[in-house]
Amino acid sequence: FLIYISIIANTKKNCQKSMIKMKKYKVGFTMGVFDLFHVGHLNLPERCKELCDYLIVAVCGDDYVTQVKKKTPVFTEEERIRIIGALKCVDEVSTITLDEIDDKMKAWERFHFDVLFSGDDWKGSERYNRTEEQFSKVGVSIEYLPYTKGVSTTEIKKKINSDR
Ligand code: CTP
Repeated sequence: FLIYISIIANTKKNCQKSMIKMKKYKVGFTMGVFDLFHVGHLNLPERCKELCDYLIVAVCGDDYVTQVKKKTPVFTEEERIRIIGALKCVDEVSTITLDEIDDKMKAWERFHFDVLFSGDDWKGSERYNRTEEQFSKVGVSIEYLPYTKGVSTTEIKKKINSDR
């Protein structure tokens, strides 16, 4: 009887172990500016990590914020990289070039991820339709995750300014 109990217990343990390992993807990749770190910034990598074993997060540089977004970053890219890299759900943090941000194939050539995670606000855009087409040829998926409503760096800046 004891042997029987032990077999059942071990089987259960092994099942739990393999369930922990059973994620949809091995290597996941996502990116963003992550200035004035807020809960929307936390939700994204946490959701990504539920779906992959190894999560790489690329932090857009100050050049992207000033030249493309036409904004001034509050925290420098070194500070933003440190904050993102300290998250439990993030396995690797990296910089990313303007070229790689614009052409996600270039990012894939460097990072070799199985899935690109992006906010669902990008779904259906010209850029992402193009990326979906390119990625389908190399077997890479794109998963759109829900954008956290009601919070953004822009909104935080507005709130702070209106409090003055
Ligand atoms: N993100 C999210 N939910 C939010 C804000 C951001 O899921 N409320 C995600 C974005 O989709 C992106 C990443 O977090 O993949 C980094 O977003 P970023 O553009 O840096 O944050 P915002 O707060 O949206 O910044 P801004 O207001 O300057 O556009």
